[in-house]
Amino acid sequence: MKRIAFALACACLLLTGAADPSAAGGAADSYTKEDVRHLQSYLVGENTPSEPYDLNGDGVWDILDLALMKHSLAIAPEAGSDTIVVYFSQTGNTEKIAEYLTGLTGADVYEIEAAVPYSDEDIAYNNSGCRANLEQNDKSVRPEIASPIASLDGYDTVFLGYPIWWGQEPRIIDTFLESYDFSDKTVIPFCTSASSGISTSERNIAALVPIGEQLAGRRFAASASAADVQAWYEALPLTKEETAMQLQMKIGDTVLTASLADTAAAQELAEHLKAEPVTVELNEYGGFEKVGKLPWTLTRSDESTVTEAGDIMLYQGNQMTIFYNSNSWSYTKLGKVEGVTQEELAAILGDGNVTAVLSLQS
Ligand SMILES: Cc1cc2nc3c(=O)[nH]c(=O)nc-3n(C[C@H](O)[C@H](O)[C@H](O)COP(=O)(O)O)c2cc1C
Repeated sequence: MKRIAFALACACLLLTGAADPSAAGGAADSYTKEDVRHLQSYLVGENTPSEPYDLNGDGVWDILDLALMKHSLAIAPEAGSDTIVVYFSQTGNTEKIAEYLTGLTGADVYEIEAAVPYSDEDIAYNNSGCRANLEQNDKSVRPEIASPIASLDGYDTVFLGYPIWWGQEPRIIDTFLESYDFSDKTVIPFCTSASSGISTSERNIAALVPIGEQLAGRRFAASASAADVQAWYEALPLTKEETAMQLQMKIGDTVLTASLADTAAAQELAEHLKAEPVTVELNEYGGFEKVGKLPWTLTRSDESTVTEAGDIMLYQGNQMTIFYNSNSWSYTKLGKVEGVTQEELAAILGDGNVTAVLSLQS
């Protein structure tokens, strides 16, 4: 963001006087994200919008007008969007994920910036005395936010993005959370990190302030693609009217849909898949099943079972089997493939080993 501002400021210096903005009239009462895009394009020399963008009335359209426009948007978010992507990012990784999410959701976006900006030295975490490290070492620190968004009242859903700092959310995220009422909102954390997971920060967030519903968050690598973010977003249980969750299994080009069983293991599987899809390598076994190791151990409630084609079972707590024929053994039910005959299923699974990508569909 700072790099963009700098580039725009330079462009603005070059362009000042190149057009006569005052000819287009004064400032409008309210602005949209489209206006921001138009003004940005103008400032980098791409067009001259017909809208009046001289917000501070100084006769030129420049970076100050852009700043004022963005500020007015933050105070009065565009009507209609009930989702906002809020993020804090110091080296651009989390910002990139936030941009992908904004593109997918059409949500409003708000960047948390520190009132006292972090310098490179402030985040040089190899130096134990750097500002970020000192803040992370003290849970009570609440860095001030530069231009706090006036209200989150118009939003039901808040995506909250941040980098992991020493295994946790940066303290300025705590400042943000304590500044608003989240008791009727859905909050969805996401983060980027070198390698650490999101779970400690999720627990911190849940313990800090009352939140209507906090969905399972997601950690992204700095290299995460738009497709990674899309896959996560599409698996999120965001619809209020909960429809029954279904398991999806992509095998080759075929997507199979399965109902989930009423077992703890099936619920745990769904929870894992809510966070991200998983790929399972399934080996042919016995002429009646494909079996493969899951990345997790799930709760067993084994029962002696005579399986049918389409049954999806948990075997020994950490293996998944898909049956295309019958077998008698003790298994925990995970689900049942719907809408295909035994012959169709056998043909889809084929003779040898297969790769299944499991995801959740609501
Ligand atoms: C002060 C500080 C502490 C960090 N601590 C961790 C950490 O505990 N685990 C980790 O995997 N990455 C850690 N990182 C790396 C960042 O989480 C990672 O580079 C992140 O993608 C930066 O996001 P940003 O570009 O949005 O600021 C740390 C970075 C900084 C500046």
